[in-house]
Amino acid sequence: MRRPKLFSSPDFYDRQWEQYQFQRLLTEGQNILVTAPRRVGKTELARKLLDWATDQGWLATYANVEHAQTEADFFDELAKVLLDVGIRPGIGDQLRNAGARLRKLLPASAKVSDGEHSFELAFNSDIEDALREAQERMNQLLESLTSEGQAVLIGLDELPIFLSTLAGQPGGEARVAAILNWFRKLRCAPSLLPRVRWLLCGSIGLDTFVEQRKMAGSINDLRPQKLGPFEHPIAIEFVKLRARSGTDSFEVADELAEEVVNQVGWPLPYYLRLMVDELKALPPFKRSKSFPSSADVKEAYAALVSPDKKIQFVHWVGRLDLQFGKVAALTAHAILKQCCQKPEGTTKTRLRTMLIKRNPHGDPETIERELVDLLSVLERDGYLHGEDNRWAFRSFLLRDFWLRHVAF
Ligand SMILES: Nc1ncnc2c1ncn2[C@@H]1O[C@H](COP(=O)(O)OP(=O)(O)OP(=O)(O)O)[C@@H](O)[C@H]1O
Ligand SMILES: [Mg+2]
Repeated sequence: MRRPKLFSSPDFYDRQWEQYQFQRLLTEGQNILVTAPRRVGKTELARKLLDWATDQGWLATYANVEHAQTEADFFDELAKVLLDVGIRPGIGDQLRNAGARLRKLLPASAKVSDGEHSFELAFNSDIEDALREAQERMNQLLESLTSEGQAVLIGLDELPIFLSTLAGQPGGEARVAAILNWFRKLRCAPSLLPRVRWLLCGSIGLDTFVEQRKMAGSINDLRPQKLGPFEHPIAIEFVKLRARSGTDSFEVADELAEEVVNQVGWPLPYYLRLMVDELKALPPFKRSKSFPSSADVKEAYAALVSPDKKIQFVHWVGRLDLQFGKVAALTAHAILKQCCQKPEGTTKTRLRTMLIKRNPHGDPETIERELVDLLSVLERDGYLHGEDNRWAFRSFLLRDFWLRHVAF
C-alpha cells in the first residue's frame, strides 16, 4: 500500500478534544456527520482525522463532490479517490464504465428550475438500470477494498451542495431521494458496516437539507457531532502562534491577543487568522509607532471589512440561494438586513412585523412558521445568534461586511 501524503495542513491547531471524540466514535464503528456553522473548521478537522486513520493502518481518502452535477460525476469522483488509495484498477474501471454509461443516458444537465419554471422527468428504465449498475459497482468496489480486512475511512465533503445541484436537474427531487436512500443502504450494508467508516461534512448542513425534504430517516444512522469556535484561551494562544509564524513574524502579548479575539467576536480559527494576516499586511505608514498595538488591531479590522476584501466573505452570500432556494433566500436576506443594522441585532417581534409588511395579505401563521424555520437555519449555519427573543449577527466581522456590502 502506498502511504498517501498528509491530508491535514501543517498549520492545524488544537481541536484535541474533538479529535479524541471522533476517533473514539470511528473506532467504535460509527459514521459521523459533522454539524457546524460555516467556516468553523469542519474540513480541516476531517482531514486531520484522515491522517489519524492512516496512522492506524486504515485506508483513508477524501472526496469533495461540490462540483458534481449529476450522479455520474458523483460516482466518478468517488472512483477517482478510491483508485488513489489502491483499489485494483479493474474494479475502478468497472465503476467508471458504469458511470460513463449513466452519463450518456441522463437527461441534459441544464438547470430547468429557475424558481418560476420547472418540470419533472420520470426516469426511464434504461436510466434506472444504469443508475443501479453504478450503485452496485460502488458497493463491489468498497467490498474489494476491505476484502482483506482492512478498514477504510472516507471523508466526504459537500454532499449537500451536490444534492442541491441535483435537485435543480430534471426529475431532481426524485433523484436526490434515490441517492440518499442508496447511500444509507451502502453505509449500513452488513458486508461493509464493520470496516467502512464515513465522515461527512459540508458548508450546507445535511441535516437541514434532509429535514426540508422530510427525509430525516435517510441519515438517522449517522452520529451528528457538533464543532464550535475555539475556547477563549485556545483562541488567544492561536493568535500568538499565528503572529509568531512565517517570515514576517512578531510577538503579541496576551492582552493584545485578547483584543484581537474580542474584535472578531466569535473566535473561529478562520476569522482569527484573517485578522493576524491583516495585521501582518499593514503597510508601514499605517502602522502605529508601537506596532503591534490596539490601534493596529483596529486598523487591521477596518481593512478586513473594506471593499477590496469582499472576496473573503462573499461565499456567505452565495450559499443563501443554495441553502434556501431563490424565493426563501429573499426572505433570509430581509431578515439578515434587519439584524445587521446594530451590533445587538433586533427582536423577533420586529422581524415578524417586517415580514408581515412584506406580505400584508399572507397568513400570519405561515409567516410565523417561515420566520421560525429561517431563524433556526440561519443560527445553525452561523449567521445569527438568538437569545431572549433577540437576534444578532454572530460574528462582528461578518456583520460589518453585511452592513457595508450586502444590505444597503
Ligand atoms: N484547527 C484549525 N487550526 C488552524 N486553522 C484552522 C483550523 N480549523 C480551521 N482553520 C482555518 O479556517 C479555515 C476554514 O476551515 P475549514 O475549511 O475547515 O472550514 P469549514 O467548516 O469546512 O468551512 P465551510 O463550511 O465553508 O466548508 C481554514 O482554511 C483554516 O485557515
Ligand atoms: Mg468545508
